[in-house]
Amino acid sequence: MHEDLPFSPAAERNRQPILEQLLQRLPPQGHLLEVASGTGQHAQHMAPALPGWTWQPTEHDGQALPAIAARTAGLPAVRPPLRLDVTATEWPGPPQPAWTACFDAVYCANLLHIAPWPVCAGLMRGSARVLRPTGLLLTYGPYLERGVDTSPGNRAFDQSLRERDPAWGLRWLHEVQAQADAAGLVLAQRIAMPANNLLLVWQHRAAAT
Ligand SMILES: C[S@@+](CC[C@H](N)C(=O)[O-])C[C@H]1O[C@@H](n2cnc3c(N)ncnc32)[C@H](O)[C@@H]1O
Repeated sequence: MHEDLPFSPAAERNRQPILEQLLQRLPPQGHLLEVASGTGQHAQHMAPALPGWTWQPTEHDGQALPAIAARTAGLPAVRPPLRLDVTATEWPGPPQPAWTACFDAVYCANLLHIAPWPVCAGLMRGSARVLRPTGLLLTYGPYLERGVDTSPGNRAFDQSLRERDPAWGLRWLHEVQAQADAAGLVLAQRIAMPANNLLLVWQHRAAAT
């Protein structure tokens, strides 16, 4: 049915392990904002498994929006996808009204290493703005960690990313944490995922104390 749409084999592999974590960690209902929805495969797979949740897909690449809409058509909880650049000062940006403290979760997979470093500050600042006081930011992907041996697979992936674009590359977790800290978010949970990826759960500092 969706054979003609852009397809990510990685999203197909990681969608179920990530969903299993979301099911354990999200409350029974709420509003979720997905940042960098890509092909829309995560929205298509996960939204129907989270029946108490609405799911707002977004993408920086406006040309990706029709495919996300096509993939999620007929899923009542999934809102029409919107264009969103995380470095914008307001989300989602004109002409849409700005979101403030209206989401219970922000979910973002595989963005920080496939985008320039300032995208990290944008993601943290914007998430802090749009999350309710008890909301969670969930980021998924490979990271570099001090004191943890980087797997050969992640080392090779980092090198291939930098060859494709010198502004890309795996991010150091402590540097991501510094950006989160500046935005008022703290790391609440670090969950090891298949293939040397991490699911990180961030929350407002005030909610963590
Ligand atoms: C590797 S894809 C990940 C897609 C999807 N989340 C997944 O895991 O399959 C990275 C995505 O980040 C998006 N992106 C890049 N820069 C961005 C920005 N400044 N704001 C929001 N999204 C951005 C790209 O358009 C692309 O769709």
